[in-house]
Amino acid sequence: MTFDSEQYYMMKNKKVLVDPPSGDKYGFPKLIPLDELWRIEDWLMDNGYPEKEIDDYIKRAFFDMLVDDRDVLARKLPFKEILEKKIYLTYPFKAGFIHVDRWEVLTAYIKAFDFKTGCELGVSEGETFFNLLDENEDLFMYGVDIWELQGDNKLETYQHENPLEKRKEIVFDKLQKYSSRVKIYEERTDEAHAHFEDESLDFIFIDADHTYESVKRDIELWAPKVQKEGMIFGHDLNWGDVARAVGEMFTNFYVNGDNVWSAVKTSLRN
Ligand SMILES: C[S@@+](CC[C@H](N)C(=O)[O-])C[C@H]1O[C@@H](n2cnc3c(N)ncnc32)[C@H](O)[C@@H]1O
Repeated sequence: MTFDSEQYYMMKNKKVLVDPPSGDKYGFPKLIPLDELWRIEDWLMDNGYPEKEIDDYIKRAFFDMLVDDRDVLARKLPFKEILEKKIYLTYPFKAGFIHVDRWEVLTAYIKAFDFKTGCELGVSEGETFFNLLDENEDLFMYGVDIWELQGDNKLETYQHENPLEKRKEIVFDKLQKYSSRVKIYEERTDEAHAHFEDESLDFIFIDADHTYESVKRDIELWAPKVQKEGMIFGHDLNWGDVARAVGEMFTNFYVNGDNVWSAVKTSLRN
């Protein structure tokens, strides 16, 4: 039996992440259990989301997404019905809609799926890398970055506060603190994949070279390294090149906050 990504997510957990606008102020995203009956407004308020924000949420998020069935939220929905209707409660969201950082999006998935081993392609100065390690105490992270300008890499011609050499230094200075939970490969992503056994990672986060060819190549080379029920994430879905590569590679993918895309491995096109 094959699942598409939203069915997979819901069925595996019987839960979906809910992340309303400004949710970070009130402790969101949170998991909503799908096998219980609720009305979304009641559930949000029971879980600390203020009533005054609800209208905004319903208007901006749900009604946008549930265009085919606007009355659906007025009723209490059992799990089965949600599955059949394929309703998304939070992910996918429109890019940029949720006010969360990429490591928060990843952490929500890591905790929901109990992921233990991940790899970030493109570490830069380690903002995502170290936040993931801080927020997930049992997580082992591999990181891959060449920290040198690559001919095919348009992104790194952009202005950045710190040059690549400095960013590398920042990462290596911090590594000591996490020494038992990290390993860095200072290589190109199309070389470093060779260090990994197939199906040895729970997830990868692709954020290196953002050209169409490279994103596609990273997915092709690295997806085999992810375990069967694992996930493939990446950054900057708002880049045309990235979106094209992701759309071509997967039958289904989610759009999360901070332009993070995510797909289950089973939704790779053959
Ligand atoms: C956008 S930054 C990564 C940001 C980081 N993932 C984060 O969330 O904070 C891209 C990084 O990818 C690295 N990079 C670009 N092309 C690469 C390649 N072909 N192989 C390895 N690293 C690459 C760059 O050196 C740069 O540090």
